[in-house]
Amino acid sequence: MTARKKLNNPFVTVGYVSPEYFCDREKETGQIAEIIHSNRNLALISLRRMGKTGLLKHTGYLLNRKSNNNELIYIDLMPTQSVSDLLSVIGTALLQTGHSEKNILEKILAALASLRPGFSYDTLTGQPSLVLNVINENEFNLGFRQLLFLFSSIRKERSIVLDEFQQILRYPEKNVEHLLRTIVQDNPQINFIFSGSDKHMMETMFNSPDRPFFQSVEMMYLGPIVTESYRDFIMHHFKAAGGIISGNTAESILAWCRNHTFYVQHFCNRLYAKGLSEINEETIRQVSFEILSSYEPLYLTYRKLLTAHQFALIQAIAVENGVSKPFSGDFVRKYSLNSASSVKTTLDALAGKEMIVGNKDGWQVYDVFFARWLEHGWKRFKRG
Ligand SMILES: Nc1ncnc2c1ncn2[C@@H]1O[C@H](COP(=O)(O)OP(=O)(O)OP(=O)(O)O)[C@@H](O)[C@H]1O
Ligand SMILES: [Mg+2]
Repeated sequence: MTARKKLNNPFVTVGYVSPEYFCDREKETGQIAEIIHSNRNLALISLRRMGKTGLLKHTGYLLNRKSNNNELIYIDLMPTQSVSDLLSVIGTALLQTGHSEKNILEKILAALASLRPGFSYDTLTGQPSLVLNVINENEFNLGFRQLLFLFSSIRKERSIVLDEFQQILRYPEKNVEHLLRTIVQDNPQINFIFSGSDKHMMETMFNSPDRPFFQSVEMMYLGPIVTESYRDFIMHHFKAAGGIISGNTAESILAWCRNHTFYVQHFCNRLYAKGLSEINEETIRQVSFEILSSYEPLYLTYRKLLTAHQFALIQAIAVENGVSKPFSGDFVRKYSLNSASSVKTTLDALAGKEMIVGNKDGWQVYDVFFARWLEHGWKRFKRG
């Protein structure tokens, strides 16, 4: 095999770069743009690593390119642990997006003076972050409203993305959901997009009649990218670099990764890094083996953390490539799983640890590469 000309790797595995490296999602991007345009609020839910953040950043990129007036501000709530953190990340986002605004820093500091604003600096990048200190509900309420007021005053038609929104349920403060709902209601000039990967927590917040956010948003579930578009995307990027990969081979990568975005990206990134001019099924096997070997220390740790019965069940689910009837006699017998009732208890435990995930078709191992490792180990053992 000959080496081809080296390019930067087009299979992005961290963050969003530009439309060129972003596959499809045209329908979803259009829907989100329409929702924003019509001043509605949205809750976006998907499995972890399916591409929520990428989709939101992509939509923001396209909207900003079209019109500077429709900027989508992205705020990640994952690192926040309290309402003080929440206001701090929003204040920091305001500082960054309004940097070209005259006296933006002074305006923010004046508006939030009662919250004792301070700064911290990223040790690597030196970027400043605003640090706010909220001591009661009233301060939070006023602080949040002040920030939204400043957001709207910088430019009209703002959309704010609160990613990993379920995080607010983990804050120690009470009543956050209720306060936020009222603030959102009082600020119809701002579109809110609430995004999260904890389906249960997100659905409980937005679909339960007794919760403040009940029926206040449009729900969108983000599934995998369809095979045809992803196959063409993969083929296009290899071809652009002088590599040959057939449609069937590209589809076998997708099948091995269950079309789950992060896993496909990671796989293709590794494959691309090899710089091969011709990619075939044997190359695919080799890359899968390399991936599983590199993750093996982690998966051995998972194994230690699970009980023998939990491990047997998750392995059985992996070998079956998902199971729709985990309590059936056939399944229980085939994998020596004791009884249907013990499977029920273990299934709940694995789901609670987010090791497996359920949908209308049954249960799957959440981490795709872990599933393949389990499957591989089972086959090796059986043959052995
Ligand atoms: N449409 C796409 N085309 C190509 N790569 C994508 C696409 N969407 C997402 N990615 C890539 O897939 C990976 C996972 O996507 P992303 O981080 O957006 O998922 P997520 O659902 O926000 O995950 P998490 O729940 O962990 O926050 C990232 O590396 C991202 O760059
Ligand atoms: Mg994300």
